[in-house]
Amino acid sequence: KRVAILISGRGSNMRSLIAAAAAPDSPVEIALVVSNIGSAAGIQFAAEAGIATEIVPHKAFNSREAFDRAVSAHLEETRIDIVCLAGFMRILSDWFATRWMGKLINIHPSLLPLFKGTHVHEQALQAGVRVSGCTVHFVVPELDAGPIIAQAVVPVETGDTPDTLAARVLVEEHKLYPAALRMLAEGKVRLEADRAVFG
Ligand code: GRF
Repeated sequence: KRVAILISGRGSNMRSLIAAAAAPDSPVEIALVVSNIGSAAGIQFAAEAGIATEIVPHKAFNSREAFDRAVSAHLEETRIDIVCLAGFMRILSDWFATRWMGKLINIHPSLLPLFKGTHVHEQALQAGVRVSGCTVHFVVPELDAGPIIAQAVVPVETGDTPDTLAARVLVEEHKLYPAALRMLAEGKVRLEADRAVFG
């Protein structure tokens, strides 16, 4: 399957997806990396890895949907089958979520449905949970609400700060996201109505 990754920054999850796609038995080819931020560190890494990249600056568009249609046009030109959001800091329009429904996944650094949105690790520490983790889910129009494909759990340790908890969760993100993408690419999970169906 031809996969695009949408990023806005560092791109460490993107790098884990690129590394996993290099395995000889991988069903995934990372065919395109798109960023809304030209200076995103991940874009330079992808370009150096020989992957096609596109910068689509959101400020150049006067509506969310106009931006999303420009991104979607690049995905179609590149004959993309599956889209992975990886630290992509733009909320996608209902139009985009519907256009790519069942082929569009995201990683979120909490055990959804807990702690949606931003400042996720602050939310977790504030709530006093003793475990946290990460979730890969299908993207649907409602933010951080799509059917769950996979989750991983980490302990919350005494003295954790948002940064120490984020670092522990990130280690698991880098394993979980490639595994979940592989499941989708191999047809081992699919979106049916509003549920993830396995097997
Ligand atoms: C990750 O924690 C991801 O779960 C969240 O944003 C962060 C992106 O990090 N959505 P990176 O750009 O993949 O390093």
